[in-house]
Formats: sequence, structure tokens, C-alpha cells
Amino acid sequence: MAPLTEHRYRSIFSDSTPDERRQNFEDYLVYARERAGALLEHDKDLTSKREQLNRFRAHPVRSRRPLDDPRAFYRNHVVFRDDPATIDRKTLLWTCVYKFARHEWVGICAAWDASPRLVDAKTTVARISRYHLAEEFCHIRYFEEMFRTFGLDQVTWVPLSPVKQRLYRLFPRVPGALKFITELLGVTFYRQLDTLLDQLLGDELEARARVRDLLYEIMMDEVAHVGQRRNFLGTGEIRIARRLVAPFFRLFLRDLPESQRLLDINQMVRDGLTFDYSGLPVGFLEQTWIPSYCRLPSMPGRTQASIRRGQD
Ligand SMILES: [Fe+2]
Ligand SMILES: [Fe+2]
Repeated sequence: MAPLTEHRYRSIFSDSTPDERRQNFEDYLVYARERAGALLEHDKDLTSKREQLNRFRAHPVRSRRPLDDPRAFYRNHVVFRDDPATIDRKTLLWTCVYKFARHEWVGICAAWDASPRLVDAKTTVARISRYHLAEEFCHIRYFEEMFRTFGLDQVTWVPLSPVKQRLYRLFPRVPGALKFITELLGVTFYRQLDTLLDQLLGDELEARARVRDLLYEIMMDEVAHVGQRRNFLGTGEIRIARRLVAPFFRLFLRDLPESQRLLDINQMVRDGLTFDYSGLPVGFLEQTWIPSYCRLPSMPGRTQASIRRGQD
């Protein structure tokens, strides 16, 4: 794992005014465009992220040894058929990553069809939403690259059951507090994943480094998404969101049989409730996006976008 930053910001649950949030949306859109590049509607892709992925693909890294039993991955990645206790932890890691990413894939497919194209998006929030979804599609391609790194070349994205699929189609209409919590859950999951790479892949240094590079590309966006989704929430909503963190995390993870064996769920809940941008890998804070009201008063008052441009 990369060294972790100690630089402290304010809690993600800090209050904000409507004016601050309006300004922060504008700032976020500038950031998203700078980081992701131009949106390629037809391909659900973004130019900078595509270039980055192509760089990874041009220099592929593959694990030295295949998984003990790749068939165990394919047998259990969609639905767990075996007893998880009988599956080696490396394989469990990949079935767990698949299941988490699959939920994302289902959610974004439904949301993409329901949201206006960038040229038709009339508001800043609608433009942000289109960028956000395209970033999530890029993450799916990064996940596929992770699987390939460990010899899992046949991974396809399988729709959820019809009932759950219908539920996900409602996602664009769920309250903002829940959308925020799903992003927060994502970041706490990726932090656990980062720790697991050290615990489980010590015999695959090159492949582990590649997977970590891919993970950090995803995680950087997800940290920015936490702030962006938080920015939708007023005083009452952010209080409600805080109360929902623990039950939502536990409910979601109950559906992942691997979580009991791999993840420290109590720690994930704590990480969610205490999220203040500390403990992230060094270098993240300079590159991700953080709402202005999560910065301490003593910190520079520049916008995140202007920091990236090197302006005052
Ligand atoms: Fe995501
Ligand atoms: Fe996200």
C-alpha cells in the first residue's frame, strides 16, 4: 500500500450553505472536464481515461502464476455456489471485486439510458451526471483489466435478477442521501481492497502493482464522487445520510458472501462515519476534488479546479 496522508480536512458530514453548494457544483464540473477529458457519448468513454487505459494495455502485466483453480472463480463470481470457506482467499478476492463492480455496472447502465446526452444537458448538475456516469463505465474497463492481469480473460457482466434489475432502474430517482452513501461505500470498499492486495498478493509483486495502479485510478474518481454527491445534501439531508451509513453498508454487504471472510465491515462503517479525506494514499488530495466546506479555515481559499491549474 502507498504511504497514507495525514493531512486532515473537515468531516464529509460538515454543513454547507446553498450558495456554497452551487459554487461547488460549478467547480466540480471544471475539475471533471480537466481530469477526464472530452466525453465520447457513443462509447460511454472519456478521452483522458481512454488514453490511460491504452497505456496500461500497451504494457500488459500478467501474474506469474495462474489462480489455483480459475474454474472456482467462474463458478462463484455471479452467485456463490460453493461454500466460501472452501475457496482460497485470492479467488475470493476476485469474486468479491466482480460482485461489487457488477452492482456498479447494473446501476450505471440503467442511469445512462435515463439521463440526457451531454449536448442536451441544460444544467450544470445534468452535465456533471453525464460525466460521472461515463467515468463509472471507464472503471468497469479498469476492472476488466484487473481480471486480465490475473488470467481471468472470460469475464462478462451478467445482469441481476429481474426484480433487482427493476430496483436499479429506480436508482436515478432515489434520494440524494442514498446516492451519497453508495459513493462513500465504494471508497471504504476500495480502501479495504488496497489492504487486501498487500495481504493476498505478496507473491505477485508486479501484478499487484498493476492492479493497484488500476485501483487508484478508480479510487481517485470515487473520492471525488463522494464530495460531488455530498454537495447535493442540505443540513437535514446530511444528518439523515449519517444515520443511514451503518444500516446501508451492512445491508449491502450482507449480499456479498465474500465480505464476511475478506472485509472488516465494522472498520468500513467507521471509515464511512469518520470520512474526512485523511488516510488516503499520498498524492490523492492534490489530484482529487474536495468540496470547499470540507477544507479547514486555515487552508488556502482557492477552488479545487484552480489549485489544479496552479492559479490563485
Ligand atoms: Fe463507481
Ligand atoms: Fe462513483
